[in-house]
Amino acid sequence: MTEPRQITIFDTTLRDGEQSPGASMNIPEKIEVAQALVDLGVDVIEAGFPISSPGDFEAVRKVAKHVRGAVVCGLARCAEKDIDRAWEALKHAAQSRIHVFLATSAIHREFKLKMDKEEIIRRAVAGVERAAGYCDDVEFSPEDAARTEIDFLCEVVEAAIAAGATTVNIPDTVGYATPNHFSSVIQNLRQRVPNIDKAVISVHCHNDLGLAVANSLAAVEQGAGQIECTINGIGERAGNCSLEEVVMALRTRKDFYQADTKVNTRRLVPTSRLVSNITGIQVQRNKAIVGRNAFAHEAGIHQDGMLKERTTYEIMRPEDVGFSKTDLVLGKHSGRAALADRAKALGYHLTGGQLQTVFDDFKALADKKKEVYDADIAALIEQQIREVPELWALESYRVACGTGATPNVSLTLSRGEEKFTEEMSCGDGPVDAIFLAIERITGIVVRCRDFQVHSVTVGKDAQGEVNVEVEHEGRLVRGRGVSTDSVEASGKAFLDAINRISMLTEGRGQ
Ligand code: KIV
Ligand code: ZN
Repeated sequence: MTEPRQITIFDTTLRDGEQSPGASMNIPEKIEVAQALVDLGVDVIEAGFPISSPGDFEAVRKVAKHVRGAVVCGLARCAEKDIDRAWEALKHAAQSRIHVFLATSAIHREFKLKMDKEEIIRRAVAGVERAAGYCDDVEFSPEDAARTEIDFLCEVVEAAIAAGATTVNIPDTVGYATPNHFSSVIQNLRQRVPNIDKAVISVHCHNDLGLAVANSLAAVEQGAGQIECTINGIGERAGNCSLEEVVMALRTRKDFYQADTKVNTRRLVPTSRLVSNITGIQVQRNKAIVGRNAFAHEAGIHQDGMLKERTTYEIMRPEDVGFSKTDLVLGKHSGRAALADRAKALGYHLTGGQLQTVFDDFKALADKKKEVYDADIAALIEQQIREVPELWALESYRVACGTGATPNVSLTLSRGEEKFTEEMSCGDGPVDAIFLAIERITGIVVRCRDFQVHSVTVGKDAQGEVNVEVEHEGRLVRGRGVSTDSVEASGKAFLDAINRISMLTEGRGQ
């Protein structure tokens, strides 16, 4: 038996994943995700696109400075100022990579860049050379490679490697490829680019036709050594190749691919939940590997088979991807050490101060509901790590409402030491009334684009989790709130979104 080939897992949840509408994360959230990615065992973390905004720059800088255990990568166009800025953000990382990209397809050349082929090669080479002047780990991506003429793609890739690229990434930017097509692109590059063995071939597939994972696997069959992917497959439009799916396909079918990754697959479910909680993007129930139903057997024949022999209907064990057998973990009498242990198992890194606050909240919750589940604990922690204390906080609310009557709301918010109360008769139901009162006090008016309530766990006493998406000056912002009172959870979610907008408009970072 030969040892399986190790495939590099390049996670771009914090860069391409964050480009999902409404998925933007603030800096503490990005650091939390980066640390979870290290625990998961990814090789490279693409932390952002430093030139794109001061917030992105700061996020990459902080991840580079504080996160250890993976290569930290920053994206740049093939332009001097982009590359200089990327290096400025990355320079404190223990291991860093600059990722430069330039579109190569005829459509992009003609309509977006207005450049001919010679100009593209000249700029690609200049970009790679400048990046290589800063660090010896340089990735080059010919954007829209899957729609680029194969002869020209070979030419660009050869020139980028000669200029110093150590990884050449082949993006299917618009999710146009099919497995046979993508396989032949990689095969052509391996056969026709003379210096191809001097670089790792990477693939970056989008999911517009639902083929991102299949295309990535087809590329591995042809010798690709790196896969770019995101947690839960989040990303532009239909998203990117899903990390958990591609990793489990390689692990489960090692016999076929003769390849594996160093991902700790038991961290897949906790990391998926962390990213879902932070971004507010729910994981569909039937999502492979991490969806709630991924291991649920409903049909009688299947259940019967499972009882006789698990492998009749299961190709992976739920515990191998991180589903725990039971998640009823803590109660009223549980101590701080037990809470710290569960927090760690769920993928969170809490400071002493954060642990104490979460512990106080946990005790208050355990007084209200008998059973405290993992999801309850995750919700309390999320609330803690996402809080922006110097901005608006919900102090109290009262709403009187009923069928056919306009609600009367009295709402108090605090900002630092100051308290602000608004009493109004307005809206259509208690949630609308609270939203209007919050807008009146904060002076920030938004359009509500999405509003979802669901229970964090089971039982009538379960905490309600509310996710809102609001639009403010053309930008989509998400907010999340949790409480055993779902009207209060709605107010908190709306205020979370308002706080994020205040952070942006008051120039306090992302
Ligand atoms: O999809 C794409 O082409 C990208 C590149 C920047 C790699 O995200
Ligand atoms: Zn992409």
